[in-house]
Amino acid sequence: MDVLKAIQTRREITSFKNTPVPNDILESILDAGYLAPTGNNLPSRELILVTNREKIDTLEKTTPYMKWLNEASAAVVITGRPDVSKYWIQDGSISSSFMWLRATELEVGVGFGAVYNFEDEKESFKREQWVRSSLNIPEDRRILAIFGIGYPENKPKDKKLPSREEIIYYESFK
Ligand SMILES: Cc1cc2nc3c(=O)[nH]c(=O)nc-3n(C[C@H](O)[C@H](O)[C@H](O)COP(=O)(O)O)c2cc1C
Repeated sequence: MDVLKAIQTRREITSFKNTPVPNDILESILDAGYLAPTGNNLPSRELILVTNREKIDTLEKTTPYMKWLNEASAAVVITGRPDVSKYWIQDGSISSSFMWLRATELEVGVGFGAVYNFEDEKESFKREQWVRSSLNIPEDRRILAIFGIGYPENKPKDKKLPSREEIIYYESFK
């Protein structure tokens, strides 16, 4: 599958089959995140693979918006290091994108659960603290997001996109 095809076919998967994703596939998804670029080439993000059932079920309680983790075969927690780079959010986000596309290529589904929240620092800390204590993550790390990984149970419905004209401009804004 070429990159454009992966971009065109990638969707969020929120229902997973009860079939484990083999370790070499998980490692390949992690490789994609590891190889993603970072601002100033600084290592401001880390990826934590979780395959332990109890731990995944604990992660599911991080926010009300990642119920699909209960069915996921694995989870990847994406951390950020503001002490290492001012671009930690972008770095973690690009790493997530690369993993999501590699997973798509391997016909593995991904659910994306946001943890870090810029608008409500108190709520964000509460959620991050839950993940931190569950996985023994040091205090200086922020928790950006959690991936749920598994084989898709069904195909998502078509989604509506805003028109291309609303999103893409040429030479100047309007
Ligand atoms: C920054 C960001 C945060 C998201 N947070 C959640 C979330 O907390 N829970 C969830 O189920 N999906 C979450 N999603 C998935 C989006 O809802 C989903 O990608 C979007 O509706 C587009 O659908 P698609 O991925 O199938 O194209 C998030 C996606 C992004 C990019």
